[in-house]
Amino acid sequence: MSEQAIVTGRPVSISGTGSYLPEKVLTNHDLEKLVETSDDWITTRTGIKERRIAAEGECTSDMATKAALRALEQAGIEGADLNLIIVATITPDTLTPATACYVQRKLGAMKAVAFDVSAACSGFLYAMEIAHSCIATGAFDNALIIGAEKLSAFINWQDRNTCVLFGDGSGAAVMRASPNGHRRVLASHLGTDGEQTELLNIPGGGAACPITLDNVERRLATLAMQGREVFKHAVTAMRQAAELAIAKAGLTIADINLVIPHQANLRIIQAISERLGVTEDQVFVNLHRYGNTSAAAVAIALDEANRSGAIKENDRVLLIAFGAGLTWASAVIEW
Ligand code: ACO
Repeated sequence: MSEQAIVTGRPVSISGTGSYLPEKVLTNHDLEKLVETSDDWITTRTGIKERRIAAEGECTSDMATKAALRALEQAGIEGADLNLIIVATITPDTLTPATACYVQRKLGAMKAVAFDVSAACSGFLYAMEIAHSCIATGAFDNALIIGAEKLSAFINWQDRNTCVLFGDGSGAAVMRASPNGHRRVLASHLGTDGEQTELLNIPGGGAACPITLDNVERRLATLAMQGREVFKHAVTAMRQAAELAIAKAGLTIADINLVIPHQANLRIIQAISERLGVTEDQVFVNLHRYGNTSAAAVAIALDEANRSGAIKENDRVLLIAFGAGLTWASAVIEW
């Protein structure tokens, strides 16, 4: 297990956010027709009511680009002026090249260095940490970070343990060197536990288990999860990550105005809120509308909180994520 965080060098701000959700809505009642489940079970166990599904032919880079354009517009910067593009995803358009390369082309961001980060649901905060470090050290002046997922393409739609949980979507943020600006990243924390890779994975389709007819028939290229175990790890790791980032920022939980947690399960969010000692109205939740969109979840929630006015100027916002790997991450931003 390894844990790291770097927040040194020149200040870095979030100068714009954006998100995109595909139009097609898949409700719990729709899922009742696909697998043996019920709206009541899904709502009680997860809090999810519906999720979005990408259109036929709509891929991860398309959704990523749409969220990116909104973030760029808010930041007042053109794609052509970007230095760095990082796409966090576990559902890339292709195994290679990186989805970020397709996004670079779609944005006309031909001066930007572009690559992907694979850290599952923690991916957006991993991307934020990398971009932050690159800008803080002076290697780059700006970065576009995106969490984008087309999980519907990697779900076994006959497995009720997983198919009710996930959805498609994307969220993005523009980060910039900003000596005096608002929306500064104060502190962050990342962690990984590679001892737990089997708890949550897509076992097939990579070099360890290449695509064969047999593997496809056995649904090995779809997401598999030991939900109960993941749940326990999620609560412990997210709580610790939150406390470490808050401490590194020189703050206490009483200084945090809004918590934006990974949107996997309302019960996980409630357990963490209770342990951290924050009230329900201090926690941003949108998972009832979108389900778990993995790397996109915190990014979408950040954009919705930003645009809806849920985050006020000078607020301290705590972002927390957890996902396959296992991975976890947190960041404190002063808005
Ligand atoms: N409908 C009806 N019954 C179901 C369904 C369903 N969709 N899914 C499972 N069940 C059944 C199970 O078969 C089991 O039945 P059994 O007792 O007869 O065996 C029963 O419901 C209870 O199953 P549990 O797995 O114990 O249910 P639990 O309360 O743990 O909820 C859940 C399952 C929602 C998956 C939960 O464990 C969870 O949210 N885990 C964490 C997920 C997470 O945080 N993922 C984050 C990262 S995702 C990423 O990185 C891509």
